Amino acid sequence: MNENQRKESQLLTPENQDKKIEKDYSKYFEKVYEAPSLKDAKKRGKEAVQYHSDFTIPEEFKNMGKGRKFLIRTYGCQMNEHDTEVMAGIFMALGYEATLDVNEANVILLNTCAIRENAENKVFGELGHLKPLKLEKPDLLIGVCGCMSQEESVVNRILKKHQFVDMIFGTHNIHRLPNILHEAYLSKEMVIEVWSKEGDVIENLPKVRKGKIKAWVNIMYGCDKFCTYCIVPYTRGKERSRHPKEIIDEVRHLAAQGYQEITLLGQNVNAYGKDFKDMDYRLGDLMDEIRKIDIPRVRFTTSHPRDFDDHLIEVLAKGGNLVDHIHLPVQSGSSSVLKIMARKYNREQYLELVAKIKAAIPNLSLTTDIIVGYPNETEEQFEETLSLYREVGYDAAYTYIYSPREGTPAAKMKDNVPMSVKRDRLQRLNALVNEISAEKMKAYLGQTVEVLVEGESKKNPDVLAGYTTKSKLVNFIGPKSAIGTIVKVKITDTKTWSLNGEMVEETVEVR
Ligand code: SAH
Ligand code: SF4
Ligand code: F3S
Repeated sequence: MNENQRKESQLLTPENQDKKIEKDYSKYFEKVYEAPSLKDAKKRGKEAVQYHSDFTIPEEFKNMGKGRKFLIRTYGCQMNEHDTEVMAGIFMALGYEATLDVNEANVILLNTCAIRENAENKVFGELGHLKPLKLEKPDLLIGVCGCMSQEESVVNRILKKHQFVDMIFGTHNIHRLPNILHEAYLSKEMVIEVWSKEGDVIENLPKVRKGKIKAWVNIMYGCDKFCTYCIVPYTRGKERSRHPKEIIDEVRHLAAQGYQEITLLGQNVNAYGKDFKDMDYRLGDLMDEIRKIDIPRVRFTTSHPRDFDDHLIEVLAKGGNLVDHIHLPVQSGSSSVLKIMARKYNREQYLELVAKIKAAIPNLSLTTDIIVGYPNETEEQFEETLSLYREVGYDAAYTYIYSPREGTPAAKMKDNVPMSVKRDRLQRLNALVNEISAEKMKAYLGQTVEVLVEGESKKNPDVLAGYTTKSKLVNFIGPKSAIGTIVKVKITDTKTWSLNGEMVEETVEVR
């Protein structure tokens, strides 16, 4: 909205305003703007993945950010966190400076998550907060990107109710940020560019990483699993893998820069390489090469149980820098619920896989994701989840109440489980999750663990905090010089979700 439009809208009565909005809104449909379509996003064709490695910032945009500052708010998963690092890289390449202060920013982006309704509500709440700032500073650009922008209903709602937003762009359009910004500076209307396509792989994008200790490395994008509750296959496109060489070069470069830990990222990393037409190369092969790189810790997330093959287990069992922690979402302990979730494994198969992995990697730390209150979930089915949780003895879990996502098959299912029952189940599950975590933590008393020190503890700057290979949070008193290194800490006290200890020595020869 420009200055004149704003004045005009302020003069309108609520009734007129509605009409005006209707009129403006319809204009967007006359104009061919690039809007999202969940229907198109669902398509999976046979065409090979397109790889692009020719990303450059057009000469004419190189000074766009001079004297301007950007701020990106990130919601959702690690994939989004990493996309934010890429967008920050693009902003910096355009000459912008980073800021954490909304009042100082000339461009604010909300990198959004669509996984559950409450994730979306947070973003709409934030838009509400930003409106007065935009009215005060008409030159401020506000953008919405990430998974929510891939949803038609979200784009329509922003068009109707948040007209002060200047740009909306999708997860496939990140590399187009310079052009989108350019258009937003020129245009009086909201710039919308959301491609609902299966997706390409774009290399050579600039990145500004958030820290110097741990780094994310994308190994693949998208998801083809189409679990019946999940929006991700619609918002992120098809499964497509980066070439091993690109990944290995990136990891080597991070090792040379002194990074201590990398996490290989994908929505379903076990499907890595399935899309290669010219070679038989899977996650096990990739991990086998990465394990030889001189970087102390290598993690990967997220694993889908379905594609977890024997070769991968064999490679992980070699240990070294491949850490002894696996995140293996189960979602439910009931085979009939797993079936309607379309997870493509049942309780027994999951337990068999866990037994196989545990036999190969002793003392493994296992974590998971669980959804309670799936449509029509019975008390018995929920209890199967509790019993599976106990049987596996997970170290931790992310637990969620099912949230219907428009466009997914589960959203059309009738549901006879009242919200109060769902909440109660979540509480019961969380009580078990806490109980088992506290028990596991107790076993650490008196033991010495290796901690990658990330910084000062959030609660007390005199205390340092870091994680073990098994992803246990450890707080201890130690010198600030330990930050960024791996040190030995003797555990003196245990809590439900963390360990306290004393530093024993600095382990310099960590590699
Ligand atoms: N690709 C990962 C999960 C990504 S989403 C995997 O399949 O393991 C992270 C978690 O969010 C999921 O594991 C699931 O537990 C939860 N989730 C996804 N969609 C949800 C929904 N509609 N309602 C509630 N939780 C959901
Ligand atoms: Fe969603 Fe299932 Fe894909 Fe995970 S595997 S992102 S839960 S569809
Ligand atoms: Fe959310 Fe998209 Fe990640 S929906 S969980 S940000 S892939």
